[in-house]
Order: sequence, then structure tokens, then C-alpha cells
Amino acid sequence: MENHWKTIRPEESSVAEFHSNMLACVGPRPIAFVSTIDSEGRPNLAPFSFFNVFGTNPATLIFSPARRGRDNTTKHTLHNVEAIPECVVNTVNYPIVEQMSLASSEFGEGVNEFEKAGFTALPSKFVKPFRVAESPAAFECRVEQIIHTGTEGGAGNLVICRILALHINEKFIDGSGKLLQKEMDLVGRMGYEYYSRANSESIFEVPKPSSRDAIGFDGLPKAIRESDKLTGNELARLASCKKLFTQEEIESFIRAQITKNHVEADLIQSAKQKLAEHNYEDALLILQSAYFV
Ligand SMILES: Cc1cc2nc3c(=O)[nH]c(=O)nc-3n(C[C@H](O)[C@H](O)[C@H](O)COP(=O)(O)O)c2cc1C
Repeated sequence: MENHWKTIRPEESSVAEFHSNMLACVGPRPIAFVSTIDSEGRPNLAPFSFFNVFGTNPATLIFSPARRGRDNTTKHTLHNVEAIPECVVNTVNYPIVEQMSLASSEFGEGVNEFEKAGFTALPSKFVKPFRVAESPAAFECRVEQIIHTGTEGGAGNLVICRILALHINEKFIDGSGKLLQKEMDLVGRMGYEYYSRANSESIFEVPKPSSRDAIGFDGLPKAIRESDKLTGNELARLASCKKLFTQEEIESFIRAQITKNHVEADLIQSAKQKLAEHNYEDALLILQSAYFV
């Protein structure tokens, strides 16, 4: 089926229109729930989904309190990190998502969102701003640099932070030191008023392709590559195998395993089952045999 594309250029749309389209296309975005203090020592707490980590050594994260598209004003968080270059980036999970959303209200200057949104302020170890006791994890940070990407409404202000410490609630760590991602239930920001959850219903594993010499899509037999019964994900699993089976191997598999009564649909079904079980080589052999007979 032919696809049709809508093309939008920032120069030709309003800031609001481009903003909402852009955010609906980049998601889920992680949420930095940023705690800062102003020059008078008053706490501030606000969420930012223009956020990610960008390096481990030095450990670096960046978030962006942007200029408001509406009236080109700037946010308390930006003023605060300009005055006191420190912050705590707290992570957000499902049990606190609505409190976090409440904290994003445009409260007046100096208003303490820990109090407004019902969070417990814990003292930090290395910086002055407090951290959120209810968050599953928190990064204490020193602000190293702020890059302004523009001066008009909607422009970003990249707050580049050096991570000084990461605190993780031990209830999310198992006996071997591994983090319990499914229990952590982190939330992500989508477009419009949508959020997403990362819990046992939505988290899935994609095993790393182990070898540098994967067959690749272009190395798969044409009949398999162009089969309309296999999805792109299934083909990727097959293409991650190291080599195709030889004609001899296929013939001996057919002699041993495939009876006259086997129909192609059954073989494809059983290959799909093997792929689902991460048994990629068996799936490849079955498919090569299915398309060989
Ligand atoms: C989940 C979420 C993500 C947000 N992400 C951003 C963002 O990345 N950049 C931004 O400027 N505002 C973002 N906002 C809006 C700010 O949180 C909001 O403007 C807040 O009032 C700023 O507070 P402050 O003035 O105390 O810094 C977000 C709001 C929510 C609820």
C-alpha cells in the first residue's frame, strides 16, 4: 500500500502547531522533575520532558526549560539555575504522575511546589536544592553550561549538567544489584495530554544482535525476504543469524522432519513460533526448508 506523507516546516507553521506535531512524534520522552532553589534559597520544582542523558564519563544530562511560545517569557527553573547553578533531576513513575503534573502549574515566583503538590523534600548530599523522596531515583547535578538556542518564543535553553550522584530507592534493586525496571514503572510524556508507562505490560526485550557478521536482510533468500507472511521484526530476527543453512543441511532437515502432510502455512507458523521464542536459527532452517520444497 502506498504511503502518503504530510510535510510540515517550522518556518511555515505557527510555533504552537509545530510544537504539538513535533511532541506527538517524539515520544515517550523521559521526564526530568527538576528541583532548584532561587537566590533567596526558596525551593522550586517543575517537570521537563526535553530531557535525556548524554554521556557517562563525565556523567552528563541535559534538560530544557524553554521560552514560552505564548508570550516569550522564561521559567523559574531557568532563572534559578542561572543564579544558583545546581539542581536535582528526580525521575517520575506512575504513582506520582498526577502530583508531578500538578507541580507543572504556573505558580508564582517563590512558590514551593514541593508543598503545593504534596512531595517530601529530602536534603541533598552535594548540592543545595532538595530532592523528591517519592521519586524512584534522583540525580544531584552541578550546572556546567546553559546554551540558548534562540531568543523567540519556543526557543530552548539547554541546561547541561554534570551528574554528581545518583540515588536509587533500594526497593527497586534486586539481590544481584540489577534494577527492577518493571516495578519502577517510569512514565514518559507523549503528545497532547498523553503519557505512557513502562511496566510489566509494556516493557519487552530485544536481544542484542551478537555478531558482526549477521546475514542482514540482503543476505536472506529472496522468497523469505519478500514473503508477505513475515513481519519486519521477524525478518530482522532471521537476518541476525550468522549464516544460511546449506542445501545439504536443508535437505537432511526435510528428510528427517518434513512429511508430505506438512503444508507451507504450518511451517511458517512453526517458524514464527521459534522466532517468538528467540530460537532464530531453527526458524531460519524451517523457512529455508519451507521455501525449498
Ligand atoms: C510532563 C511535563 C513535561 C514538561 N516538559 C517541559 C519542557 O521540556 N520544557 C518546558 O519548558 N516546559 C515543560 N513543561 C512545562 C513546565 O513544567 C511548566 O511551564 C512549569 O510551570 C515550569 O515551572 P517553573 O516556572 O517553576 O520552572 C512540562 C510540563 C509537564 C507536565
